[in-house]
Amino acid sequence: MTRLFFDCDTGIDDSLALLYLLARTDIDLVGIASTGGNVPVDVVATNNLSWLEVCGRTDIPVHIGAAQPLVAQMRTTEETHGPLGVGYAELPLPTTPASHVDAADAWIDATRKHPGALIGLVTGPLTSLATAIRRDPALPTRLARLVIMGGAFRAHGNTTPTTEWNIAVDPEAAAEVFGAFGRDGAAPPIVCPLDLTEQIALTPDHLVRLAAAAGSTPLECPDPADEPGLRSVADNVVIRHVVDALRFYLEFHQAHDEGYIAHLHDPFAALVALAPDIVTTIPARVDVELVGTLTRGMTVADERAMTGEPNARIATATDVDAVFDELLERIADLARTTATSASGQA
Ligand code: RIB
Ligand code: CA
Repeated sequence: MTRLFFDCDTGIDDSLALLYLLARTDIDLVGIASTGGNVPVDVVATNNLSWLEVCGRTDIPVHIGAAQPLVAQMRTTEETHGPLGVGYAELPLPTTPASHVDAADAWIDATRKHPGALIGLVTGPLTSLATAIRRDPALPTRLARLVIMGGAFRAHGNTTPTTEWNIAVDPEAAAEVFGAFGRDGAAPPIVCPLDLTEQIALTPDHLVRLAAAAGSTPLECPDPADEPGLRSVADNVVIRHVVDALRFYLEFHQAHDEGYIAHLHDPFAALVALAPDIVTTIPARVDVELVGTLTRGMTVADERAMTGEPNARIATATDVDAVFDELLERIADLARTTATSASGQA
């Protein structure tokens, strides 16, 4: 049984990553760490608990991380992900509480329970993982694989011209995490940077494909001419929430001259975590600029061993169509199964 620990700042694309992981009934999702980023940490945790409630998976523990980055001032981006981090989706308030074990201790416990057999996936700032490594420096050696969505190397930043959001929120945490891998037998993490994740650009047609595969009706194709915030009336609850969440993201990208699309950074990283062979990678030593006036939070890749041995594998290429086929098929299965079990409970 493949076991995975998920650390996120749920967020719209983190939500899709979570749905993809829930759709993978062949894996054991041992826990979800909530880290502040897109929205404050308590809102992240509520979103994770709400999605688990929608999908009938309240058996999976949700852990709460620190409210602040290690050094930087907390920053959030409700303008990107919506006031509650899930776009226009109105998720049910959770009835299950978060775990009393905090996110850092949950990382430590999960790696100690499954030494050498646990996959770590981070799609938010690295605050919780860095805190865990501070408490238990041997943690990296117990992970079978780590996948990080973050950074930008030959691509323009999405937070400043040189920085990507997850790294920019907590540069010190990112620097400490990258510094903890690539030595002492800790497998170098696979890093999924904007260079590649921005190629996973969802369009409204993908939402139609998703709804059709889930057997949801009516099939809705969001359009830039729609009234902003138009709510879905899909009869499938998962599809309804996904369309409402993604409509906000489509409108955001449109408003920022990127087209009526939505970059699926995090579900892509989730797919890589479970199928690393879908990406081409290059070894590099990755470090994070901490003091640059213009470049603080920038990820710097040394591909020529000028500054030390590689501590990461940067994902550089993938089959985009195959990625969408897998994501849409799996999430549609989850939507269909969730609807079936809910009607069975009716
Ligand atoms: O830069 C994109 C990343 O930052 C994604 O993980 C998104 O959810 C935000 O956390
Ligand atoms: Ca995220």
